[in-house]
Amino acid sequence: MSYQAVLDEIQLNINQYYGIGEVATYIPELAKVDPRQFAMTVTTLDGKTYSVGSSGQKFSIQSISKVIVLTMALESLGGDLWDRIGKEPSGNSFNSLIQLEQEKGIPRNPFINAGALVTTDEVIQNAENAYDAIIDFVRKVSLSDKIEYDYKVANSELETADRNRALAFFMKSFGNIKSSVTELIDVYCHHCSLSMTTEELSRLFLFLANKGINPLNGKIIASEYQAKRVNALMLTCGLYDNVGSFAYQVGIPAKSGVGGGIVGVIPGKLSLCVWSPELNSSGNSLVGTKALELFSELTGLSIF
Ligand code: DON
Repeated sequence: MSYQAVLDEIQLNINQYYGIGEVATYIPELAKVDPRQFAMTVTTLDGKTYSVGSSGQKFSIQSISKVIVLTMALESLGGDLWDRIGKEPSGNSFNSLIQLEQEKGIPRNPFINAGALVTTDEVIQNAENAYDAIIDFVRKVSLSDKIEYDYKVANSELETADRNRALAFFMKSFGNIKSSVTELIDVYCHHCSLSMTTEELSRLFLFLANKGINPLNGKIIASEYQAKRVNALMLTCGLYDNVGSFAYQVGIPAKSGVGGGIVGVIPGKLSLCVWSPELNSSGNSLVGTKALELFSELTGLSIF
């Protein structure tokens, strides 16, 4: 079966899963998104792209940006990053405060909010202008200069980001945050607000399927060692307290966001992105998860 035929088949099957999940409402601007939307894109290492649904529609990437800031922080700090962040699944929701006190301000992993605040802090410390550094990185790696911050979404989250501020202040009290909390939360809300299509996101993640090298232009984005580790972290921590079921059902390292996107990587073969805004109780796209499960079933592809 060709990838296009698989995607077409998935689109025919997912309608039955609408109306079970709910769009994110804790960021008011995200609550306005039409819930019954769907797009999916597969990009193979030779650059071929296969899509269904609204694959040209921009959406808020939210926590998918945690992979971007992790890759950037690893580039500057290397293995020393792991003195500041753990590598274990948290078993808790993405914005939980509970483990931070017991674990003395060291977040469990870079994909929960606390962990991404540490990697964002590292990016701020290293860049002349973190906003420019992040968007330049995303445009360069996805080969698209049409990617922008969505300032409405960023400002909407800034108005409701007190829990993230609490996480940042708490880690700062342990010396694990160097920037001002105001600047940190502002940069964090901006990278979460990046607005992208499934085609752009799928292309952005292609270097992780190709040992750190962007196969479309040969540029080294991360070392082979780092790409392997980012993929391992996506497999074990990329879908929060839902990560075990996702690995069981789908078997593809992936990262989700509350905008309804999920990006996955099959090393040596392809990257893929699905988007549908209704979320399950862990904050992952419900229809998107079903679509990825079907993709794995129909193609027989997973990392297992
Ligand atoms: O910090 C937040 O709560 C959001 N900007 C991102 C959370 C998110 O996407 C969790 N993912 N499923």
